[in-house]
Amino acid sequence: MDILVEYAILVGVHEQTDEHFDYTMEELKNLAEAIDVEVVGMVTQNLERRHPSLYVGKGKVGEIRHLYEETDANLVIFNDELTPSQIRNMEQELECKVIDRTMLILDIFARRARTKESRMQVELAQLQYTLPRLVGLRASLSRQGGGTGGGFQNKGAGETKLELDRRKIEDQIAKLRRDLEQMKDQRETQRKQRKKSGTPVVSIVGYTNAGKSTLMNKLLAKMDPEHAKQVFEEDMLFATLDTSVRRVKLIDNKQFILTDTVGFVSKLPHHLVKAFRSTLEEARDADLLLHVVDVSNAEYQFMMNVTNDTLHDVGVENVETLKVYNKADLANIPYPEVRGDSVWISAKEEAGLEELISLIKKKIFEQYVTCKLLVPFERGDVVAYLNDKATVKNTEYEEDGTLLTVEMDIMERERFEEFIISH
Ligand code: GTP
Repeated sequence: MDILVEYAILVGVHEQTDEHFDYTMEELKNLAEAIDVEVVGMVTQNLERRHPSLYVGKGKVGEIRHLYEETDANLVIFNDELTPSQIRNMEQELECKVIDRTMLILDIFARRARTKESRMQVELAQLQYTLPRLVGLRASLSRQGGGTGGGFQNKGAGETKLELDRRKIEDQIAKLRRDLEQMKDQRETQRKQRKKSGTPVVSIVGYTNAGKSTLMNKLLAKMDPEHAKQVFEEDMLFATLDTSVRRVKLIDNKQFILTDTVGFVSKLPHHLVKAFRSTLEEARDADLLLHVVDVSNAEYQFMMNVTNDTLHDVGVENVETLKVYNKADLANIPYPEVRGDSVWISAKEEAGLEELISLIKKKIFEQYVTCKLLVPFERGDVVAYLNDKATVKNTEYEEDGTLLTVEMDIMERERFEEFIISH
């Protein structure tokens, strides 16, 4: 099969209140390139608010059309989610294939999803997006035949799915919801077990391409070289969609769990956030969040706000957070540096990792207390357990048992209370 390249015109409405419009257009370009669509032109318009039936003002349509013809584009991409009627009207006015930011992001997610759960989550979001737009999309996508449609392959809105009638889509949505609910229960049980085991959970969150996977790999290699397993990292948007969970065992026997979550992007489609809720919820039960920020990007503050808002939307609140300003090597700032709960690092150069690790340890293990325990000889199991799981600093043998000096967390202190003779 021939590989067909797509050439797109980007269209954006700059609403008065939007301070980050230019950046969102640049990001739209990156998103398009992420699925091999080449951007050949851009049309923007300042408006108080988007035109309700056309998105842009009526006069602007001619300009888009003109540029479309002049550049031999075969696709027009809009910077916002279009309503069903905007899609239909634009498609009629422009007589070309029309997609919006949401379809683009859904398409990227569909390509990147690797586990069964994330594939189902994306499919659900795609179908929910498609359902009210069936008519417009059907017309738009039927134009794919004429030499276009190479790079873009939105599965949910694609041809196969469009052959299904509305009813079938509804059934499929219901089925996906049921299946995902079941998976969510399993995930919940696993999370509870982890919580019950008393092992602290540290979750890495942040904007797409901030360096989350890179940081996870470097931290694992540094803290627990024997068990370090590489996580997929790549210079592309949303390289990771699936949560990776790794147990880290430090040299002093202390353990924690490190998880990595999906990256965020501005205007992340509502359906997608909802569909990925259970994945994102991993962060809700964490004991500590590492909010990774690409500090070399001029818009990093905006990216932090988007990340915080998205976390808030999925109910992640009041979790202690370390701000990890990454890629400091590309910015003109001193690093490694620690200030309060913020740390400036370069994951790529492995600079600042020690500082970050000691900050993590301080946060999650600060409830550790050194205790003295006297364990009767017949309870060799307790001594064996503590030697294996806790940090035993000293062992002496007394007449009536083994005297241990141990660093213990709250759960361990409760469990072995009867043996503790002093704190
Ligand atoms: P998503 O999967 O999109 O959420 O991305 P991510 O946050 O997991 O980012 P990832 O670790 O895949 O890194 C993105 C790109 O940034 C890769 O090309 C990394 O090599 C690069 N990168 C990560 N950390 C640093 C850093 O400290 N300095 C520099 N210069 N590049 C970095």
